[in-house]
Amino acid sequence: MTGSPADSRSIGVGLISVGWMGRLHSRAYRNLPVVYPELGLAPRPVHAADTAEAGRDYARAVLGYEKVTSEYQDVIDDPEVEVVSICAPNFLHAEIGVAAAKAGKPFWIEKPVGRSAADTARVRDAVIEAGVATGIGFNYRQPPAIAYARDLILAGRLGTITNVRGRFFGGFNADPNAPRAWRFVRELGGTGVLGDLMGHLVDLVHYLLGPIGSVTATTGTYINERPGLPGTPDEGRRLPVENEDFANMLVRFDDTAFAAGALGSLDASWIAVGPKAEYAIEIFGTEGSLRWDFEHLNELELAIREADGTVGYRRMLADRTFPEFERFQPSGGTPMGYDDLKTIEAKKFLVAATGGPATGSNIHDALASAQVLTAAEESAQSGRWVDLPVVAGNTANVRTEGTGR
Ligand SMILES: NC(=O)c1ccc[n+]([C@@H]2O[C@H](COP(=O)([O-])OP(=O)(O)OC[C@H]3O[C@@H](n4cnc5c(N)ncnc54)[C@H](O)[C@@H]3O)[C@@H](O)[C@H]2O)c1
Repeated sequence: MTGSPADSRSIGVGLISVGWMGRLHSRAYRNLPVVYPELGLAPRPVHAADTAEAGRDYARAVLGYEKVTSEYQDVIDDPEVEVVSICAPNFLHAEIGVAAAKAGKPFWIEKPVGRSAADTARVRDAVIEAGVATGIGFNYRQPPAIAYARDLILAGRLGTITNVRGRFFGGFNADPNAPRAWRFVRELGGTGVLGDLMGHLVDLVHYLLGPIGSVTATTGTYINERPGLPGTPDEGRRLPVENEDFANMLVRFDDTAFAAGALGSLDASWIAVGPKAEYAIEIFGTEGSLRWDFEHLNELELAIREADGTVGYRRMLADRTFPEFERFQPSGGTPMGYDDLKTIEAKKFLVAATGGPATGSNIHDALASAQVLTAAEESAQSGRWVDLPVVAGNTANVRTEGTGR
């Protein structure tokens, strides 16, 4: 995060939690001045918090944070910290988000922002009161292929959208002997795969097609118990898994959505054996269809009816005609990676945090997604469809008056 031009604006960064996401946010801040030099933004790693010594050591020695602490509030209170990255386990997100807002600090927070819609709404209320900018870790919005797909949808190239099918299938919790970490305990993780993967998928659907208006869902838990965490009093015991590892939703889009009236089927699993990060979406319209899968991040498959009536999928590899691609690679077909998506996300967050246009996901989008998930939980209990309140996030694809959309 150092070595930027002398006339660039230094921004003091505070990091809360130095795990996978904390390290990734830090790399994104470090890359930002090189990828987007014209912004003149120079994030400076100031203060990092982690309860684990190894995390604090890594933050100081490898990531270059000037100060480290075991107390996240120290980071928030540090006058040199101007923006905060919140990368803690789920159960801490809402309280840290509220604390950052109260201190008047813009924050970039990992999903899920809350363990429920009510938890997320607390953070939203604090953000509105404080008037701080926010960014959410909804990174599946960022691939150039997705940005290109959204432009095609908005331009009407797929015609009227009729259906969407999404499946976010990961295998990272497929081992039944993996210990019962915080994410399997309701008090600590909240929902299971709903908050973890379905929340991403719901946000992606909101971003591409607009707000979901009603939902019905089923959920299941297939690995019902796991061994207690080694090195804790639970070691050697088998303990219950308290949340779902598979979720399936049927959705109807809201009347305000770009895809008003369309129907969708969304599945998520974190115990799928085979798929590793098969985060895939297919969108069908009256004139064409498209499909994308995170495991093939740089590819978009597109079928648009030709003038002579023929139609068939073609595979497009990302190149400079796709938004943002050229920032990372000059030559089409050279793959971008996951870190690049976070660099784009960091850019959108810091531009908004420094008074520029807010083009990234924000706390309203987080609440919109959380409300769908809470409605899904309710539906899984009752077996009924649940209508949602107006949930359009700030950057959902909604109809615009007078444009015919
Ligand atoms: N956007 C994405 O695609 C994505 C991917 C993975 C994880 N996540 C989210 O990021 C968050 C973190 O996940 P991760 O995979 O980085 O977890 P991780 O287990 O790798 O890291 C969590 C870190 O938090 C630290 N920690 C625990 N209690 C703390 C406290 N009280 N104060 C400060 N630090 C504390 C731990 O020591 C650890 O270093 C989760 O909410 C997860 O849902 C998002």
